[in-house]
Amino acid sequence: MEIDERTRLSVAAYDEHARAYQESLRLRRPVADVRRFAAFARRGDLVLDAGCGPANDLRLLRDTGVHPVGVDLALGALQEARMLLPRHPLVQAPLNDLPFRPRSFGGLWLSGAFNHLPRGSWREVFAALLSLLDTGPVYFSCLRGVRDLAPVTDPVLGEIYTSEATEQEVEALFSSHGVEDVTVDVRPDPILDRRRMWVVALGRVVR
Ligand SMILES: C[S@@+](CC[C@H](N)C(=O)[O-])C[C@H]1O[C@@H](n2cnc3c(N)ncnc32)[C@H](O)[C@@H]1O
Repeated sequence: MEIDERTRLSVAAYDEHARAYQESLRLRRPVADVRRFAAFARRGDLVLDAGCGPANDLRLLRDTGVHPVGVDLALGALQEARMLLPRHPLVQAPLNDLPFRPRSFGGLWLSGAFNHLPRGSWREVFAALLSLLDTGPVYFSCLRGVRDLAPVTDPVLGEIYTSEATEQEVEALFSSHGVEDVTVDVRPDPILDRRRMWVVALGRVVR
């Protein structure tokens, strides 16, 4: 699968503004979601944080007793992550082509990970990521709406392109791939604008 040019430009923004992005979200992490996620995982399991950015969630996940592995395409974001987590596995790779064996993980954490992918690729990328999961929880959050890599001027990142989905679409994404016990919530954006909504889903894969 080719990476869309708008996805590349968005990743370049995370690369360039990694420090400022990390600072903007440092105190606004989904702590309760991390706990709900960890309650479905087994202590000591490897958990994949795909699109981890500068890695604030990696630390939260680690603190619950799982072993997170962070993946992102933006090197700048991974360099920031490395400063926070000197010994954690961090991998620079595209979401659609990750260098892991099937069923390697006991949890899948996707916080805003699909925000810069074309909507038409979401199902394929989700299926590929799920194939890396053995059994365990799946967390997914995305902007709420229907836009498809629409241009946005972000106050921290500058010019980026974002995709969105409705809660019905996220629910269908989960259930059509066999994810069970799914809950889907709609929440205001904790960082930039509380009028902006996010869709947040949690479920689990049982094989
Ligand atoms: C909205 S940020 C989310 C970062 C972090 N998970 C969080 O919740 O704050 C999206 C992240 O996905 C990464 N990303 C976007 N497209 C990607 C792709 N095709 N492959 C790998 N990483 C990608 C970006 O570099 C960015 O760090």
